Amino acid sequence: MAEITFDLRHTPKDRAYAQLHTHIISLLNGIDDEITAMATISALIHHAFRHLWTGFYRVVGPDLLRVGPYQGTVGCLEIAFGRGVCGTAATERRTVVVPDVHAFPDHIVCDDRARSEIVVPVFDGGGALIAVFDIDSEQRGRFDAGDAAGLERLLGWFAMPKTRV
Ligand code: SME
Repeated sequence: MAEITFDLRHTPKDRAYAQLHTHIISLLNGIDDEITAMATISALIHHAFRHLWTGFYRVVGPDLLRVGPYQGTVGCLEIAFGRGVCGTAATERRTVVVPDVHAFPDHIVCDDRARSEIVVPVFDGGGALIAVFDIDSEQRGRFDAGDAAGLERLLGWFAMPKTRV
């Protein structure tokens, strides 16, 4: 399959996320495997925006996240609920936008080039938290409500009914 690499760095966010959403829905048509979806979504978003780190931490226990598919330098392997930006988003079941990671007291450093971060909770169709989606940027203040809205819509894929073809 020939795959396009998007460059959405200079596209307005609402259009960029709409384009990614359409592409992801079409690419994942007939797929019901969450790991396949996580890998595909990470790769698409990471390269479209040239982020520093893009990927998933999966819920693997009552209070534990473990790294899943991602793009970027080596991420820390496990994060407890309530720890760091990821664990905060998991505990509070809400998107957390951190404009300056140095101002977030419990930020966990995986790559010291990171300056800002967004973490979005991922739910299945029954409303259970199955993962968080984490993006790090080298730019301070890279993420805002537009990213939160675009990513939350896109990650709604995990809550949609799946049909295997
Ligand atoms: N910074 C995150 C840890 C994960 S890495 O950024 C890949 C946090 O504070 O939870």
